[in-house]
Amino acid sequence: MGRFGRSRVSAGLDIGSGFVKIVVIDHSKPEPEIVQIATSPLVPDAIVEGEIMDPVLVADTVRALAEGAGIKKMDVVAAVGGHDVIVKRIPMDRMAEEEASQVIRWEAEQHVPFDMESVQLDFQILDPDGDGPQMSVLLVAAKRELIENRLALLADAGLGPTVIDVDAFALHNAFERNYPEAMQGLVALVNIGHETTNLNLLADGVPVLVRDVPFGSRRLREALQREQGLTAEQAESVIQGKDTSVDVHAFVGDRVDELAVGIERAVAFVVSQTGLSLLGRVYVCGGGARVPGMVDALGSRLGVRAEVANPVQRIAVRPEVLEGLALDEFAPMLMLPVGLALRLPR
Ligand SMILES: Nc1ncnc2c1ncn2[C@@H]1O[C@H](COP(=O)(O)OP(=O)(O)OP(=O)(O)O)[C@@H](O)[C@H]1O
Ligand SMILES: [Mg+2]
Repeated sequence: MGRFGRSRVSAGLDIGSGFVKIVVIDHSKPEPEIVQIATSPLVPDAIVEGEIMDPVLVADTVRALAEGAGIKKMDVVAAVGGHDVIVKRIPMDRMAEEEASQVIRWEAEQHVPFDMESVQLDFQILDPDGDGPQMSVLLVAAKRELIENRLALLADAGLGPTVIDVDAFALHNAFERNYPEAMQGLVALVNIGHETTNLNLLADGVPVLVRDVPFGSRRLREALQREQGLTAEQAESVIQGKDTSVDVHAFVGDRVDELAVGIERAVAFVVSQTGLSLLGRVYVCGGGARVPGMVDALGSRLGVRAEVANPVQRIAVRPEVLEGLALDEFAPMLMLPVGLALRLPR
């Protein structure tokens, strides 16, 4: 309990197409502490290509999980991402933040292919201490409808006050706290989910490119079903490393190209734009980081060191949380909800 008995706790809610995840962080002590983790698989196809196909079902899943975790009255931070959200680094004449907020809509018109009337904007000055005539701004434009629909879904799930963040920012947030040593040179944070891989390229800790690549464990599962005649359940169990009747390492090695090409293109773009040196290291999280052989295959294909990124590497976890949860195994899937819960309640 913090000031005037108000709880200083935030719940980060990640509605993934494979798993819904909640992480609760207590901010009342000098260092944040994870006090709860809850996850639930989502019914297949409830979310397809980032779109919530069955809002009632998704709201029910979120409600059940939130009730079980006792977070109904907490401040909840959820995220949006995907094609209806654009995150772009743009140059602007140097000015104070206040002044920038007056002209950002006009600037955005030149960079965002959405109708400005239906868009919600946010921005961050990436080099506030710079002194050149130009500054670098990270612009976010999200379709208003997406945010409204998400808020409506969360209200249907019975949740309390809600903040909507952008998934790329939350991933960055959690990564930065856990890997201060990665805030140098050009590095990639690669969150391989069920349907989508979120790619964040960081140059000296500053996000320089954010992009989604259509790659995930679902594709792997479907390819296994097709190529090896497995059922969905069998294929999923191969991907999770539980069924070893198929050489999953070889299979992953063949498939990782689809993702590696997406990363290489993004890196080439950043290198050409910024003149930065080549990619130094790759950090992998999401369920894809748990697929046997994935991290090594990606590293060797890209020719850089790759490692699993653990979002609780440098965050305290209350011991009760570890009862009944194999956190070591599950942790890579929690980068996004940890980043969301790191936001302080207002
Ligand atoms: N050991 C494992 N246990 C559970 N899931 C695993 C395991 N190994 C791999 N996976 C895969 O990870 C997926 C979930 O990963 P994650 O939670 O990162 O995805 P998501 O956030 O739900 O998806 P997206 O962000 O693409 O919508 C599962 O659908 C599963 O296929
Ligand atoms: Mg995800």
